[in-house]
Amino acid sequence: MKLTNSNNINNLQNNNKYHIETFGCQMNIYDSELIAGLLQNCGYSETSDIKHADIIFLNTCAIREKAEDTVHNRLESIQYLKTRKPHVMIGVMGCMAQNLKDNLLESKPYVDIILGPDSYRRIPEIINSRKPHNGHHVDTRLSKYELYEDLFPSRQDGVNAWISISRGCDKFCTFCIVPFTRGRERSRSKDSIIRETEEAVFNGFVEITLLGQNVNSYRTENGKFPHLLESVSAVQGVKRIRFMSPHPQDMDEHLLQVMSEHENICNYIHLPLQAGSDRILNRMNRTYTKEEYFSLVDIIREYLPDCAISTDIIVGFPGETEGEYEETLQVMDQVVFDRAFMFKYSSRPGTKAAEYSDQISEKIKQDRLERLIALQHSHTLKANQRHIGKILKVLIEKESKKSVMQWTGRTEGNMGVIFDKSDEHVKDIVDILITDAQGVSLFGYRVSEKELMYEVN
Ligand code: 5AD
Ligand code: SF4
Repeated sequence: MKLTNSNNINNLQNNNKYHIETFGCQMNIYDSELIAGLLQNCGYSETSDIKHADIIFLNTCAIREKAEDTVHNRLESIQYLKTRKPHVMIGVMGCMAQNLKDNLLESKPYVDIILGPDSYRRIPEIINSRKPHNGHHVDTRLSKYELYEDLFPSRQDGVNAWISISRGCDKFCTFCIVPFTRGRERSRSKDSIIRETEEAVFNGFVEITLLGQNVNSYRTENGKFPHLLESVSAVQGVKRIRFMSPHPQDMDEHLLQVMSEHENICNYIHLPLQAGSDRILNRMNRTYTKEEYFSLVDIIREYLPDCAISTDIIVGFPGETEGEYEETLQVMDQVVFDRAFMFKYSSRPGTKAAEYSDQISEKIKQDRLERLIALQHSHTLKANQRHIGKILKVLIEKESKKSVMQWTGRTEGNMGVIFDKSDEHVKDIVDILITDAQGVSLFGYRVSEKELMYEVN
């Protein structure tokens, strides 16, 4: 059974359908689940077929130009649905709505609703009051307080539940649009996070990923991020906890201490580096130096020797010289990240870096990205090969795409593992002896408790 808000029951006869498409980060996945909860309270049910939908919402991302282009193209490709069924409502939610409302109203007049990330509470009022052809509903005001603490996200069944613990960002990295699209940073109460964790466990989720634009700058009168992590870790039935993304500036030893003391907090840290040159880091307003980042990695590995570390890198930031780009490669060689998400710098109007005059050509950015990807590819393989011969705890997620005889699951470090089925079930954590590493996947076989005892002795 799924927990739902009680006023759902009032609308059960309604056959209206909604379809939400989500672009961008995990925070958007979470927000789409909040929006789905609101729509279900209005009596709408989900359809995966856009052609059957009465309400179509695109939850959008503005982080790079490409993300925006994807949404523009998608809007153009679904315009025909409105010609066929004029009552269909098309809405643009999220960061692009915030950022590009005038552009959208002008270029896509068939969009009915434009709501920024702090305006989702208006959805029931808008759809209940709206009649066909009565104009646009636009609300992109940002709030200092909105945390949606009392709303119930409607999640698809699965293993992992995303839970947002804070919203917004005050860091103002000079390349980033997020502080403008999502507004000021605010932390949600511990009670509401614990309530949502318990509800997720009740609904069958065993892994919780705590989300925040700067997850580790979380703070309320009831404590900071490590305290919260401890409380979530104590919730009965939570087999694994992850969090993303921390900012290097807000990492502290207390967090690492807590991670080392609780078995259900995964030994995995996504630690965005962005660049390896101090001059570029300073221009990015990242507030740490290359050496400080190295020290942080050392401290992480001291507390958590097996901790997987991944990162985000931007190449071609304005003014980045070839030498400065090579410093990024050197940092990567030194750290050997388990995984990296790598991007070409994309100029975001309104940000400080967009005004820098020394923008880098597309050709150079592309070339730097390709070299970086090749390097990381070899590092991922190297990091994965380290696991061969080790027994890792794997949380089973689903049947492998390759064979019905095999499972696919994840290590604490978030690496995919494929192994033969025996008597286990989805959501079990099992011990897998790793025998091979290819690309981003690991392969192995299950080790029984008896064999484990033998291994330990
Ligand atoms: N261009 C390229 N990448 C960006 N990111 C954020 N803003 C930009 C931009 N303007 C990347 C950063 C961040 C990740 C979520 O997206 O690496 O950590
Ligand atoms: Fe953007 Fe920097 Fe805030 Fe992350 S910390 S959301 S990169 S401004």
